[in-house]
Amino acid sequence: MSTFGHLFRVTTFGESHCASVGAIIDGCPPGLELSAEDIQIQLSRRRPGQSNLTTPRNEKDLVHLQSGLEHGVTLGTPIALLVKNEDQRPHDYSETDLYPRPSHADYTYLEKYGVKASSGGGRSSARETVGRVAAGAIAEKYLKIAYGIEIVAFVSSVGKIHLPSTATATNSDDDNDDAPDPLSPEFRKLLDTITREQVDSHPTRCPHPETAERMTKRIIRAKDAQDSIGGTVTCVIRNVPSGLGEPVFNKFEATLAHAMLSIPATKAFEIGSGFRGTEVPGSAHNDPFIQRPDGSLGTLTNWSGGIQGGITNGESIYFRIGFKSPATISQAQPTAQYDGTPGSLAARGRHDPCVVPRAVPIVEAMAALVVMDQLLIQNSRRAARELLPPITTLPPTMVLPKKQGKVEEKEGGSA
Ligand SMILES: Cc1cc2nc3c(=O)[nH]c(=O)nc-3n(C[C@H](O)[C@H](O)[C@H](O)COP(=O)(O)O)c2cc1C
Repeated sequence: MSTFGHLFRVTTFGESHCASVGAIIDGCPPGLELSAEDIQIQLSRRRPGQSNLTTPRNEKDLVHLQSGLEHGVTLGTPIALLVKNEDQRPHDYSETDLYPRPSHADYTYLEKYGVKASSGGGRSSARETVGRVAAGAIAEKYLKIAYGIEIVAFVSSVGKIHLPSTATATNSDDDNDDAPDPLSPEFRKLLDTITREQVDSHPTRCPHPETAERMTKRIIRAKDAQDSIGGTVTCVIRNVPSGLGEPVFNKFEATLAHAMLSIPATKAFEIGSGFRGTEVPGSAHNDPFIQRPDGSLGTLTNWSGGIQGGITNGESIYFRIGFKSPATISQAQPTAQYDGTPGSLAARGRHDPCVVPRAVPIVEAMAALVVMDQLLIQNSRRAARELLPPITTLPPTMVLPKKQGKVEEKEGGSA
C-alpha cells in the first residue's frame, strides 16, 4: 500500500511521468504554524539536477499546498500537497518497451499488476519520494518545536570509500574499507554535533572534506564509464524522549527498518553498533547506566543506538542504510527482452550515477515520520493512563523509583 503510519498517516501518490506527485497527511496536530517554505527546504535538497553528481532531470519541485491549513496554521484536517512533474521525457525509455531493466522494478511491477506505467519507473521511481519528503518536513517542524528533536543524515560511504573513524584520518587509496567504527569516541562526537549545514557544504553530503572529494571522483568515474555506484547514509536522531516504540512487532527499530527499507534502492539497515556489535564482547558492548544532571537515567556509552527492547531510552538514535548502485546504466548490458529473446540493453534517459547524496533528505523524512507516529501513539497511551488514580499498593519492583536531582526538586517546589 502507499500509506505509512498510524496516527500520523501519510499516503503518497504519483508516478515518474504523470501530472504530479504528492501526499495526503492525516493526523497532523492542529495549531502548527506551517508555510510552504518549511517544506520547500527539504524538497529542494532532494530534487534532481542539484550538481553533476545527480541526474540532470530538471524539476523545480515547487510544493503546492491544497488543504489542511489556513492563515499559515494547520487545522488538524488532512493536508494535501502536490508537486508538478514538469520535465518528463517519456521517449527516453523506448528501449525499455522491449526490455525490463535488469535489477529495476519493470519486470516485477508487470508480474504483479499485469500492467505498468508506460515509461520510467512509474510508481517505483524516486519521484514518489517527493511526497515522503514533504510529509517528513511537516513532522519535523512539529518535533523540533514540541520536543527539540533534531534529525541529521549524511553520506557515510560511496563504493568502498568510507567516512573515516577518526576526524583526522584520511584514506589514500580509492578502495579502502575503513567503515566508521560506531564504538569510537570520534564517531559518537560526530553524531552529537553534526549539522545539516556541515552536511550540505559538499555536493556529496559527506561531512569529511577529503573523503567527500574522493567520493566525488568515484561517482564521476562511474558516470564516465556509463555505470553507477552505491553507498551508505548514516542518520542520527537527537533529543528523542524515552518510552517510544510499540513492542513487540512494532518495535522502534523494526519500524525504522520498515521505513528505511521502503526507500527505493535500499539493501541494508543497521541500528546502533550493528554488525560491528557482533565482534566485541558484552563487557565492552554493554551501555552502563548513569544519572543525568536532571536526575533521569542515561547511558555512559550508546552502542544500543538509543533503543532497548524496541523502546527508546532517551539516548540518540543512530542507524545506517545501504543503497545499491542504481540499476539504469547506459553501458550496454547483456540481458533478455520481455518475451525472453536474448539481447543487449543500453538504457537511455537521465539517471543518478549514485543515489546517496539525494537520499539524505529522504532518510531524514522517513525518520521524522517514524518518530512522529510513535510519539503520538505513546502520548495517547500516557494521556489515557493519567486519567486513572495512582495505584499505591504495588510492590516497589513494579513502579519507577522516585527520581533524585533537579526533576524532583522542581516537582517538590511546585507541590
Ligand atoms: C534519490 C533516488 C534516486 C534514484 N535514481 C535512480 C535512477 O536515476 N536510476 C535508477 O535506475 N534507479 C534510481 N533509483 C532507484 C530505483 O528507484 C530503484 O532501484 C528501483 O525502483 C527498484 O527498486 P529496488 O532497488 O528498491 O528494488 C533512485 C533511488 C533514490 C532513492
